[in-house]
Amino acid sequence: MKIAITGKGGVGKTTLTALIAQVCADQGHEVLAVDADPSPCLAGALGFPDELRARLAPIAEMDDLILERTGAKKGQIGGFFTINPRVDDIPERFSVLHRGVRLLEMGSVETGGSGCICPEAAMLKTLFTNLMFRKDEILLLDMYAGVEHLGRATVDFVDAMLIVVEPTRRSLGTALQIKKLANDIGLNRLYLVGNKVRNEDESAFLKAETPGMPILGFLPADLAVQEADRLGIPVYDHVQSLRVSAENITAQLMKMERDQ
Ligand SMILES: Nc1ncnc2c1ncn2[C@@H]1O[C@H](COP(=O)(O)OP(=O)(O)O)[C@@H](O)[C@H]1O
Ligand SMILES: [Mg+2]
Repeated sequence: MKIAITGKGGVGKTTLTALIAQVCADQGHEVLAVDADPSPCLAGALGFPDELRARLAPIAEMDDLILERTGAKKGQIGGFFTINPRVDDIPERFSVLHRGVRLLEMGSVETGGSGCICPEAAMLKTLFTNLMFRKDEILLLDMYAGVEHLGRATVDFVDAMLIVVEPTRRSLGTALQIKKLANDIGLNRLYLVGNKVRNEDESAFLKAETPGMPILGFLPADLAVQEADRLGIPVYDHVQSLRVSAENITAQLMKMERDQ
């Protein structure tokens, strides 16, 4: 199962990705979590210890590696470079494993549309394709906010996409934009997850206004989420209400994917 997690900035993509990853790992699944945000923070949300985090860096920023593999310097436009560099060793070499979750930081370059032809884009595109053929049971891709970069290269390899929304019209508006873009590139298995839901009115609002996608479930708004962040403890360990909701959402996701 390969799932991308998207949504407007700050809605809770990283929080949800970390929760689902840990739920799946604790159920005994092999999990690969990929952080595609240029300012990665999934490691923190998963509670990776400092010594492991020190070994992580976004692939898109590994200038020497990009040069070694593509034969050209990062940022070079035009000229010759390998458009399908060797990447098969990268997931193992540059990821770290903690509590059953393997984490890889990709970083982000503008791969949206057919636009960027540069060594780092070639590298990431090839890496994405490589990830698509991996045998990890669960692959979760924590996306960068916004929709522009939602290019073919990025989402071609996922089975489904979760769109995180808050109970606001603005985040539903972004969800609708993401839906159109995803549909344009042939990705039609889209699910909503409501986050920061404070009461029945807010969940009813999301149900009533959903832009035509099934809702997998809701995560409550809980001040303990920020507290977990301050304390440096994963939400999964610190906030039972979110952990339980995430277990239900994961079960629902697996059921709907099985029924496909
Ligand atoms: N259910 C929640 N209740 C309260 N705060 C939350 C909740 N989910 C996320 N947050 C907070 O919202 C902020 C953004 O969350 P994050 O997961 O980083 O969003 P994104 O990855 O979409 O930018 C963080 O400060 C996080 O602690
Ligand atoms: Mg994030």
